[in-house]
Amino acid sequence: MTASELSVLRQDRSTTAAANGMNKVEIATGELYGSIWNLMDEEAFATFADAHWNKFRNAGLAQDFLRGRICLDAGCGSGRAVRSMLKDGAAKVYAIDIGDECVRNTRDRNAPWRDRLVVEQGSVLALPFPDDTFDFVHCDGVLHHTRAPFAGFCELVRVAKPGVPIMVGLYGAGGLLNFSIYLARAFRHLIPRSLAERALHLVTSDPVKMYVFLDPFYVPIRKVYRTRDVDAWATRAGVEGLRRLEHHYNYRGIDRLLKDYNSFGRWFRGDGYLTYIGFKHNH
Ligand SMILES: C[S@@+](CC[C@H](N)C(=O)[O-])C[C@H]1O[C@@H](n2cnc3c(N)ncnc32)[C@H](O)[C@@H]1O
Repeated sequence: MTASELSVLRQDRSTTAAANGMNKVEIATGELYGSIWNLMDEEAFATFADAHWNKFRNAGLAQDFLRGRICLDAGCGSGRAVRSMLKDGAAKVYAIDIGDECVRNTRDRNAPWRDRLVVEQGSVLALPFPDDTFDFVHCDGVLHHTRAPFAGFCELVRVAKPGVPIMVGLYGAGGLLNFSIYLARAFRHLIPRSLAERALHLVTSDPVKMYVFLDPFYVPIRKVYRTRDVDAWATRAGVEGLRRLEHHYNYRGIDRLLKDYNSFGRWFRGDGYLTYIGFKHNH
């Protein structure tokens, strides 16, 4: 596909998404991530999804916890967490994402389990599900890209059944990594994304590395949080037994540096990546 065909396609998508009531930031966010997931062939996606596999296993839930459960993945992206849930025997997985190509990726990549999967385009800020629906709710790397992260967190809690686990992943604040990212973001308008993509293609064909570089610089909203912020959210939204999960990815090399950076010093990682599990208040 040529650059001008790509730009016409992006324009068409924006028109359709705007007609569905999405704002410009949501459209741009969905489009960025959709184009990132589209870079992955099946082999690259399998490696990416495998790195994610141990996350649910290490969350302190019973080994077969997901078996027979009704699960939600809010902001499903490529569909990797959905794949983990389905492989772990979930009875039904509902997934939503703001990006139409994210929805397509999640659907297509999990086609072997399509009878247990429902994927829809939508926002974590207005989940299209009744209260107390799910046995397990997962939302990783999504809320900090929205205009109202705490409202999104409350939505996750609303749709969870009382007493069930909710897993959330957020960017931590502080450290050299965040400082460098925000410094670079201040100048990103000088380098259009299409140019950055072309330059990256010259040095790597690895879609995960492309993701790791494009995501922090070109995503429209990137918020960061302290551990105390997450504690406050949990208290306000009625989440109990909140616990931070330390290690959940198996990335190697440069991927480890940028995506599994919690093992680096605070000078570099600040509060690190914040993955939490907590339980909806059981009234
Ligand atoms: C960093 S990716 C994480 C994807 C996935 N959760 C994972 O861990 O692989 C963020 C995803 O959130 C989606 N997203 C951003 N804002 C959203 C919103 N308001 N509602 C639903 N999804 C959203 C993006 O389109 C993108 O696919």
